[in-house]
Amino acid sequence: MGKVKIGIIGTGSISNMHMAGYNRLKNVEVVAACDISEERVKEFAKTYNIPNTFTDYNEMLKMTEIEAVSVTAWNNIHAPASIAALNAGKHVLCEKPLALNAAQAGEMVEAAKKSGKILMVGFCRRFGDNAVALKNIIDNGDLGNIYYAKAGCLRRWGNPGGWFSDKQRSGGGPVIDLGVHMIDLIRYLSGKPKVVSVTASAFHHMGMKPEVKGIQKYNSADYSEYNDVEDCAASLIKFDNGMTLFFETSWVQNRKEDRLYLELFGDKAGAKMEPEFELYENKYDYLRDSKPLLDPNGSSFEHNFVQEIKHFISCIADGAECLNPAEDGLELMKIIDAIYQSAETGHEVIIN
Ligand SMILES: NC(=O)c1ccc[n+]([C@@H]2O[C@H](COP(=O)([O-])OP(=O)(O)OC[C@H]3O[C@@H](n4cnc5c(N)ncnc54)[C@H](O)[C@@H]3O)[C@@H](O)[C@H]2O)c1
Repeated sequence: MGKVKIGIIGTGSISNMHMAGYNRLKNVEVVAACDISEERVKEFAKTYNIPNTFTDYNEMLKMTEIEAVSVTAWNNIHAPASIAALNAGKHVLCEKPLALNAAQAGEMVEAAKKSGKILMVGFCRRFGDNAVALKNIIDNGDLGNIYYAKAGCLRRWGNPGGWFSDKQRSGGGPVIDLGVHMIDLIRYLSGKPKVVSVTASAFHHMGMKPEVKGIQKYNSADYSEYNDVEDCAASLIKFDNGMTLFFETSWVQNRKEDRLYLELFGDKAGAKMEPEFELYENKYDYLRDSKPLLDPNGSSFEHNFVQEIKHFISCIADGAECLNPAEDGLELMKIIDAIYQSAETGHEVIIN
């Protein structure tokens, strides 16, 4: 079998992580790249030795040799570019969030079904060694019935600006950006329950505050200070397996430091996956803490992407079952929509 030929749509920051994955695989060749910024796509092609560049993805998708694409552009481009790629007969790995909202995500799922091609969503954190280990522990029943979970991804001063803080292009702030990873992890680890209700608040009190000095943060490729999204949000999400999740997130919040945490509470044991991996239980009438020894680099940002890309190619080349199907991205978008709806109306949102 020949090499799997890839095209990249969007050559900003995160496309470099996709390249880190593709470049490690002998059966892959990235043959084309596209960005609306001609300068950026040419630079990217030069760095990675990619022979074809485009500024319109519809033109790139005419290349019959391309078998699959990575969609690594702004969130509002995910749906149109993925649907165009699927209609052109390409497999798609689309970055998270799958779309701006559930309606768009539903159209993407339909397009994938019609085309018979793979539409995988970039929930890269599922591929970290910590998530893989915890999923295995949970699937073996060690936590028992998981009835409560807590997750947070909190930044003190980290609004990436540019398209990220422009609702039209991003769909929202930290909820749709950071929240998709955290809420997805909880759903994935606990057996993909379906959401039944959401109560949330979102706050818009801080803004960009560009005058603040001395901070290092992730910025979008085309940084600007326009900002019409939430600074932070908190939510209570209930699922059809009886589990309740408390989730909070911020890009900007007057807090001492950034914080990442993810905890699941079962009737046999509890587990913390972030900031460190620990298990808590009652064994022979004594409370016991345990700590599986994991590869310290096995859950790094780059590692997760490399594993994700490896899996995407394995789905295409070996027929492996896709671990991150678009349906999971759609389920997440229903939750994200409900968080924003509840925050706006001040009421609980019930999802049938
Ligand atoms: N999985 C993760 O942990 C993770 C981390 C960061 C970003 N992301 C996601 O990756 C995507 C890109 O984020 P980023 O940080 O690389 O942003 P970025 O601003 O660095 O790059 C986005 C690129 O998309 C290009 N673009 C916009 N419209 C386009 C179009 N119609 N056709 C082709 N290119 C187009 C822009 O010109 C820009 O170069 C977002 O959806 C983001 O949510 C995921």
